[in-house]
Amino acid sequence: MIYRSLIRPALFQLDCEQAHHLAHFAAKFLKPISPLLSGLFNYRRNDLQVNLSGVKLANPVGLAAGFDKNGELVSVLGQLGFGFVEVGSVTARASNGNPRPRLFRLPADQALINRMGLNGDGADVIAERLRRADLSLPVGLNIAKTNDPSIQGDAAVADILYTYRKVRDLPVSFVTINASCPNTSDGIIEEARELKEIFAEIAKDNPRGLPVFVKLSPDSTDRLVEDIVECATKYGIAGYVCGNTTVSRFGLDTDESELKRIGKGGLSGQPLKPLAVKLCRKLYRLKSAQQSIIAVGGIASGKDAYEFISAGASAVQLYTALVYEGPFLPRQINYELSALLERNGLTLAQAVGVAVEKS
Ligand SMILES: Cc1cc2nc3c(=O)[nH]c(=O)nc-3n(C[C@H](O)[C@H](O)[C@H](O)COP(=O)(O)O)c2cc1C
Repeated sequence: MIYRSLIRPALFQLDCEQAHHLAHFAAKFLKPISPLLSGLFNYRRNDLQVNLSGVKLANPVGLAAGFDKNGELVSVLGQLGFGFVEVGSVTARASNGNPRPRLFRLPADQALINRMGLNGDGADVIAERLRRADLSLPVGLNIAKTNDPSIQGDAAVADILYTYRKVRDLPVSFVTINASCPNTSDGIIEEARELKEIFAEIAKDNPRGLPVFVKLSPDSTDRLVEDIVECATKYGIAGYVCGNTTVSRFGLDTDESELKRIGKGGLSGQPLKPLAVKLCRKLYRLKSAQQSIIAVGGIASGKDAYEFISAGASAVQLYTALVYEGPFLPRQINYELSALLERNGLTLAQAVGVAVEKS
């Protein structure tokens, strides 16, 4: 309530990216007293614990990639109610990303459009930061190719593997290969070949069996999704993050003129949800029994989280709804999810995929 009536109106006076930096600053500022806040932000229940491809989560609600791109909040996010975080995307080389403005609110749609373009401190700096960090929750590390169109083919594979080798011995719980960033000159990958080489190299060079996920786009063709799942299964990939933002602008309430003014970028938040649920169901049908799904796209309530879990996800993530609903959202989602599970007489593990018929 306080967030909606006081804090959000003030934050929405600021440029979207400035507001993001302020939220970051506030989270870092809270760090010394975060253990005291833990009771306020966390909703702890045994029925919310999840085993995600061997990673034990206190609850299934994670912070999606893009919020903590540089791994600066890992010591505080566990006290703020999240069950896990995906840091990144991390790229081999540091980058300023695309020119500003590059992040826009669409309040009529409870959505954002971003074309950040993989800004970040780069693998060397982030690896060193995480090595020294006091992790308050399981951390996944999302790896993307450096945003430079001259890096193609074998060089692109080497670029991703550079970051993987920098981070694989850190105390991270999983890595995600981001095959789906719409905001770079390369866009989403359009064939599984490069991924196959990346998966094959990682499979040969993963001494501690770090779970590896691949993040897909809701804009991918059925054929591409099938090819990626086939290849991921062959090389022992632990599961899928579905999905990234969409380039679609279908069915938005925001004025056409405003959308034109904003221009290109990935759409996230409520309008993305139907596309992400569809991708989640598709992946649940295609994946192997050992693989798991982390769902993300327009999740803003326990009901949304339950919808994704019954469509096949073992855990969920969010970003955009945090901007609209504020920092108590993870607690609220966990509370509502726990109540829904109880009402349906299911454990979290039993609820995974209940709404999907497997052929
Ligand atoms: C500002 C912004 C930056 C993002 N940056 C990344 C990124 O670096 N890597 C990535 O895999 N996803 C990134 N995402 C996508 C999110 O992780 C998530 O997949 C997407 O926003 C859908 O979830 P949501 O509807 O809860 O926001 C970004 C999203 C936003 C809004």
